[in-house]
Amino acid sequence: MLPTDRHLLAIEGMLPPQIAPLLDLAESYVLLNRTGTAPRERLRGRTLINLFFEDSTRTRTSFELAGKRLGADVITMSVATSSVNKGETLLDTAATLNAMQCDLLVVRHAASGAPALLARKVEAAVINAGDGTHEHPTQALLDALTIRRRRATLEGLTVAICGDVLHSRVARSNIHLLTAMGSRVRVVGPPTLIPAEIERLGVSVHHDMRTGLAGVDVVMMLRLQQERMARGLVPSAREYFRFYGLDATKLAWAAPGALVMHPGPMNRGVEISSDVADHPTQSVIREQVEMGVAVRMAVLDVLSRHGANG
Ligand code: ASP
Ligand code: CP
Repeated sequence: MLPTDRHLLAIEGMLPPQIAPLLDLAESYVLLNRTGTAPRERLRGRTLINLFFEDSTRTRTSFELAGKRLGADVITMSVATSSVNKGETLLDTAATLNAMQCDLLVVRHAASGAPALLARKVEAAVINAGDGTHEHPTQALLDALTIRRRRATLEGLTVAICGDVLHSRVARSNIHLLTAMGSRVRVVGPPTLIPAEIERLGVSVHHDMRTGLAGVDVVMMLRLQQERMARGLVPSAREYFRFYGLDATKLAWAAPGALVMHPGPMNRGVEISSDVADHPTQSVIREQVEMGVAVRMAVLDVLSRHGANG
């Protein structure tokens, strides 16, 4: 995202000179949030609308909080009770919101490319809050901020992204961001859950957790996205956990003190055990959530300065 970009639709194509300043700005918001001194005038008079066609806990609430902390008028539309149920299309819904002089439109949709389509049709700055299996750019930014705060840099680190990579927009955004910032990325999972030719994105592929986790600095676990699976791609949750679930035994294969991450929501006992998820020093899963608010504040800040209505 260049300072002049109107929208945040994807990480793909972003370069370190665009990513690093955004993380720096988010870093400053972490401190402001902790001291309760975020600048409430930054987005005064601006309207942010959350439009979530898929379920969300973290992303929706953190965008809401981020907007409110910066003084925006924030509306979270409940799609379940909206006129979408009366047959109104995505484009007509967006055009309706646009006509209300919405400045920032945060969109999550099951169809890859839906936010990009909207971005061509509305005046508002569009932020992709997760589109199908494509991208989840603010998740990758918050993950990067979390790692950077713990390890000072992303360059030279080895990160293993494990599990259902095939259906994960989190994995895709992280692969683009981490490789751009000089990390080495491994994807680890059963052959049925690793996309064909993913090596083209500059990652190495492992089907065995022992080799995939060997010596890594960061272990990022992914949820099995059953809602995107047309048919059972894994035998059973118990079997999956045995081979691919992160527990203390498997975590010991990573570098000592390796960070444990998960975008949430977690399915404990399926892709991660509770002792690892709640590990007092290695798990940064709660920190990821805190960074999510700061990153979203930074994104709203930058887009409202330079966006169409900025
Ligand atoms: N919350 C993330 C997403 O919406 C990851 C997940 O649902 O597993 O992509
Ligand atoms: N990580 C993430 O996007 O969580 P939600 O689906 O709860 O927003």
